[in-house]
Amino acid sequence: MRKPIIAGNWKMNKTAAEAEALINELKPLVAKSKPEVVLCVPYTALWVAGKAIEGTKIKLGAENVAWADSGAFTGEISADMLLEAGVEYVIIGHSERRQYFGETDETVNKRMKQALAKGLKPIVCVGETLTEREKNKTKRVLKKQIVDGFKDITAEDFDNIVIAYEPVWAIGTGKTATAEDANKTIGYIRSLVKKIWGQEVGKALRIQYGGSMKPSNAKELMAERNIDGGLIGGAALKAADFAGIVNYKD
Ligand code: 13P
Repeated sequence: MRKPIIAGNWKMNKTAAEAEALINELKPLVAKSKPEVVLCVPYTALWVAGKAIEGTKIKLGAENVAWADSGAFTGEISADMLLEAGVEYVIIGHSERRQYFGETDETVNKRMKQALAKGLKPIVCVGETLTEREKNKTKRVLKKQIVDGFKDITAEDFDNIVIAYEPVWAIGTGKTATAEDANKTIGYIRSLVKKIWGQEVGKALRIQYGGSMKPSNAKELMAERNIDGGLIGGAALKAADFAGIVNYKD
């Protein structure tokens, strides 16, 4: 049995003060949540968010992590800095990082290894663009992202890894992959992981769907066999919407 995991990816939204207000509004709404709930917030909001979730089951996440321990890496953030702020999960390889900031499967791989070595749990994003999808390249793209992005990652490492399948064309566009489609593609990712790292690893791995997930489609998506959660962008910025997804069963 895989425990569902619903994570908010706040992206570049919310000041520290706004983050505190949003979390205080959210807390009572998700107090009885069945899935694991994670909030991946901007670096400047981590400390405030960490304080605000104290005494709740909500987990803290960040949106990236450097591959080096420390040093001359202007603009990056280290695993130790995140750990000190109480971070447990970290998003790696989001399509926006890949698209705007030169993130590649190689850098994803380096960041993931560092996160794992430091005891952070990576939420690794994969997904195809619209052009790739239209050219029928979805499987090929995903395979490359998994094979290259997860190079030298061991079966044991997967205990602490979550994969987020985010079709790039569904992010922030209001277009959601149909539940059936998302399930099929996530099934492909799972079969690939089984083939490379073994049946048990693939069976136990939690794979989220991400891309215009909202309260009105969460139940249908979550009902699919292969979908174990969601990585939520826009809808994570409103307490009622995010709670509506977390409480998709109610
Ligand atoms: P939206 O939910 O806004 O489509 O964003 C999805 C996403 O990119 C989460 O990482």
